[in-house]
Amino acid sequence: MALKNDLILRAAQGIAVERPPVWLMRQAGRVLPEYRATRAKAGSFLNLLKTPDLASEVTVQPVDILHVDAAILFSDILVIPEAMGLPYQMDEGKGPVFPQTVRDLSGLQNLTTDVTESLQYVLSTVRQTKERLNDRVPLIGFAGAPWTVFCYMTEGKGSKTFSTPRSMIHGAPELAKALLEKITEATCTYIDLQISNGCNMIQLFDSWAGILGPDTYAEFSLPYLRKICEHIRKVPVTVFALGASFAMEKLAELPCATLGIDWHTSPQYARKMVGDKMTLQGNLDPAVLYGSHSHVEQKTREMVESFGVQRYIANLGHGLYPDIDPGKVITFVETLHKFDAL
Ligand code: CP3
Repeated sequence: MALKNDLILRAAQGIAVERPPVWLMRQAGRVLPEYRATRAKAGSFLNLLKTPDLASEVTVQPVDILHVDAAILFSDILVIPEAMGLPYQMDEGKGPVFPQTVRDLSGLQNLTTDVTESLQYVLSTVRQTKERLNDRVPLIGFAGAPWTVFCYMTEGKGSKTFSTPRSMIHGAPELAKALLEKITEATCTYIDLQISNGCNMIQLFDSWAGILGPDTYAEFSLPYLRKICEHIRKVPVTVFALGASFAMEKLAELPCATLGIDWHTSPQYARKMVGDKMTLQGNLDPAVLYGSHSHVEQKTREMVESFGVQRYIANLGHGLYPDIDPGKVITFVETLHKFDAL
């Protein structure tokens, strides 16, 4: 059946839209009391993730409550390391922790790229979400960029400096590349499964792009992003590389439909570097949503005026913060809904 609202798919493909589509990174999350209630029912973040009935419920909540133009699958970029053989814990307030990490050849050899079986729970979530959405809006699938997943698999947790992955690219570049290849392979399999079970577009999150420089980004992240983009033929792909405006010109050469822009980058600069051949997505500073309703409305309108209505998907410049008032998120979304191309 055809989607009732396909604005985001049209915008990604450069087809004319009446108004810009809007969704928010981390829209399914702690900002919503309804999410917190479902998470409490699940007992923990990881239980929520692995219970398709509940994971699909929180995937659809932002569509029902915030009226966004797309749902994003409730999952995590860290399901890939886990499926490859590195389980993790998510400690409240501490973020992810991996008891084991990969630091040498034997660690690399112990990893599998055969992730289909262990990721079946995510695919059940995709199918249940499609039923709940009932073709109201598209479903975005996602994965981490190999570089960002590599950071967690080697460091074992979040870090200010990510010294382990950065020392590996300088001290053991061949080992680093072999691991990046393996992550890329598993990620391609995973994305294929997301698409064949119903995801309508895919976003790749390169959250730790900003710890590299132009040369290391070109060597240790871009080639793997390119491989994944080249592999995905059936649906539009968005690449969101946080803190990587230094690489904008090269990111613009990737065979993807949309580039996500963080709030450190001006819309004018992004459009100048990317040209008209790609859709841009972003980039309101999430902190704007701490302001008054009229401030949110004004900054949102200014953002759209800078990007333009066509070849544009409205979003924040990174994920929603958990202490943002959902009322402000609704103001953000409604401002977009009032924006028409006429
Ligand atoms: O709404 C959505 O965007 C969909 C779901 C989603 C989550 N994680 C759920 C989640 C998505 C797209 C992600 C991606 C993700 N996960 C990224 C890339 C995006 C980014 O933020 O840069 C990264 C780096 C991760 C890894 C991760 N997951 C970290 C570092 C943390 C801890 C930080 C935190 O906010 O607590 C998570 C946990 C996580 N993933 C939560 C959610 C809703 C919070 C967990 C909770 O409910 O307690």
